[in-house]
Amino acid sequence: MLKQKNRSNQVQQGNEKVTPPRNPFQNGYHLPIATKLILSYLPIIIITSGVFTIVGIQLISNRILTEAQEKVRHDLNSAQEIYQSNLLRIHDIVRLTSDHFFLTGAMVAGDIESVEKELIRVKNDENLDFLSLTDANGVVIFRASNPDAPINPKTYDELVAAVLSQKTNVVATAEISREELAKESPLLVEQAFIKVIDTPKARTITEKEQTSGLILKSAAPIRDRQNNIIGVLYGGVLLNKNYKIVDEIKQTVFEGERYLGKDIGTATIFQNDVRISTNVTNNDGSRAIGTRVSEEVYNKVVLEGEPWVGRAYVVNDWYITAYEPIRNIHYKIVGILYVGLLEQKYLDIKRQTILAFLSIAVTGALIAAIISYYISRRITVPLKKLISASREIAQGNLDPNVNIKSDDELGELVSAFNTMAATVNEREERLKEFTKNKIMESERLAIIGQLAANVAHELNNPLVGIITYSQLLLEETPKEDESIEFLNKIVIQANRCKDIVRGLLDFSRQRQPDTTLVNINNVLKQVLSLLENQAIFHNIKIIQNLSELPMVIIDQSQIERVFMNIILNAAEAMDGHGQLAIETSLNGNEGFVEIQIIDSGPGITEENLEKIFDPFFTTKEAGHGVGLGLAISYGIVREHKGNISVKSKVGEGTTFLIRLPVSIHGSMRFQ
Ligand SMILES: Nc1ncnc2c1ncn2[C@@H]1O[C@H](COP(=O)(O)OP(=O)(O)OP(=O)(O)O)[C@@H](O)[C@H]1O
Ligand SMILES: [Mg+2]
Repeated sequence: MLKQKNRSNQVQQGNEKVTPPRNPFQNGYHLPIATKLILSYLPIIIITSGVFTIVGIQLISNRILTEAQEKVRHDLNSAQEIYQSNLLRIHDIVRLTSDHFFLTGAMVAGDIESVEKELIRVKNDENLDFLSLTDANGVVIFRASNPDAPINPKTYDELVAAVLSQKTNVVATAEISREELAKESPLLVEQAFIKVIDTPKARTITEKEQTSGLILKSAAPIRDRQNNIIGVLYGGVLLNKNYKIVDEIKQTVFEGERYLGKDIGTATIFQNDVRISTNVTNNDGSRAIGTRVSEEVYNKVVLEGEPWVGRAYVVNDWYITAYEPIRNIHYKIVGILYVGLLEQKYLDIKRQTILAFLSIAVTGALIAAIISYYISRRITVPLKKLISASREIAQGNLDPNVNIKSDDELGELVSAFNTMAATVNEREERLKEFTKNKIMESERLAIIGQLAANVAHELNNPLVGIITYSQLLLEETPKEDESIEFLNKIVIQANRCKDIVRGLLDFSRQRQPDTTLVNINNVLKQVLSLLENQAIFHNIKIIQNLSELPMVIIDQSQIERVFMNIILNAAEAMDGHGQLAIETSLNGNEGFVEIQIIDSGPGITEENLEKIFDPFFTTKEAGHGVGLGLAISYGIVREHKGNISVKSKVGEGTTFLIRLPVSIHGSMRFQ
């Protein structure tokens, strides 16, 4: 333990100026912790809500599209059923008429004329475009739609042929040429005629017009009583510019629903790839007859015979569409049945959903940001309280007691802070008490020192008289005189008093050292040569370990006294027996010459170690020590701008360390 005393080091009182800690927010580059927390939450919030929105929008969009496609596929089935029911209606009319006993009877009797009237009535009542009769060979013998025209020889008719060969009723969609239509009725030729309109994305064709037609047609055999076929009745409707089916589809399937002034659902019958019956309209509101299907759909449906479902640009708008081939009796594709849902409605639903999603995501992000703000406030508010409490402590209020209840780490921090503040407060109080006592003690010692100096000064003159006269008396008193022993004691004690008085005067004197440039090793050698002859050193082994040293500027006689005091103390502590080591060295880094005086004496207790530099502290018996030796030495070394310290272990010995500053001259000159 190396103890060092610094008497000039007064404990500083609380009136010193405390530099306030630098505010890290002043220069504007530092962000408050709440902002940092929010900034670190924000990317998470943004990424989460962004991913949620994108994925959600994607899912919903796909769902809406799939739903729309499902619906249009379903609608196409319904349209197909309506188409089929129209075919069946014709089939039923033709079959029931062909079975009628009146027709059979008239045919057997060869009474064509009475048949004609009935067939015209049926054709008109049932809204058929044509109803014709053939003989047993399939040669037309009467046309209800053109009764007055001369009968043209019938060219091959696939349905009539099928009835004759299969001997049963047939019904199918069929393509019919302009010539055949003309035979049935010139009006039908006109109805079938369609100008082909150039349509973007449609396949390229050279035809500018379409003269053939698409018909729903049924044929049924007429039998005699023996069940022999005696003729064939066939009839049907022309689909070109006939809007019954498509409008029925619109009304039944889409319930005529409209969106933004447009039909939501549309239906079309194509002959090949040309619109012949539709409720898709042109910009002017007219039906888009003559426009054509896109090449992509044509390839898929007409050429490959597959249904087609998807987004398509129909005439002037985007639709979600479904197309299916229409086949004739030989399963050959002769047209397309189409239904389409206006895409705009679904786009709007999609847009509204996206908007709803975005607003949910933005609201969610805002709520999350607000929550994160409150969470971060729960952290920053206590922190701010702690900061202001710390500032209060720095300004001297040691009892700031931060009051925050929290069962987490912040609570722990606050409680630790309060404990720390309480401990610092308590320590400060103890320090104040200690300082007060120390000051009082110093003042007391100063008064005692002053008193002692005054007393010593006053005693000095009478003491000189006592010593001089007792000395004279001793010299003049014959040796055999009994009083010589007492005189001797008077002289010794008077001299002792003189030493004490000189010590007191030395201790209290304020004069500046009388300095010269000296080598410390030489000073030590000189002191040792003086002391070595004294009886107390006879049994002490002195070891000198002196390093080469630079010169130092000192008051030699004063430093001699310091060495003498310490070496004498050591000899006295060892009671004349032991080992004394004197070592010198240069501490170049700090610019000090260091002298160690190490004894193998009994050591000093920790309690005494605190006091050995105090004036009048001694453990020696009265009359043997005044307790000024180390106090004087301390003062001398301090006056030389050096320091003196001690370490000691009871039972092992004591080491004094004296450090004297190397002068500029001294550092240049070694001896
Ligand atoms: N080397 C040492 N070993 C043990 N104790 C020591 C040593 N040096 C000093 N002391 C203790 O320190 C005390 C104070 O020493 P100091 O030299 O100031 O006074 P003193 O020797 O008692 O009296 P004087 O004024 O005659 O020197 C001593 O009484 C002694 O108890
Ligand atoms: Mg002493």
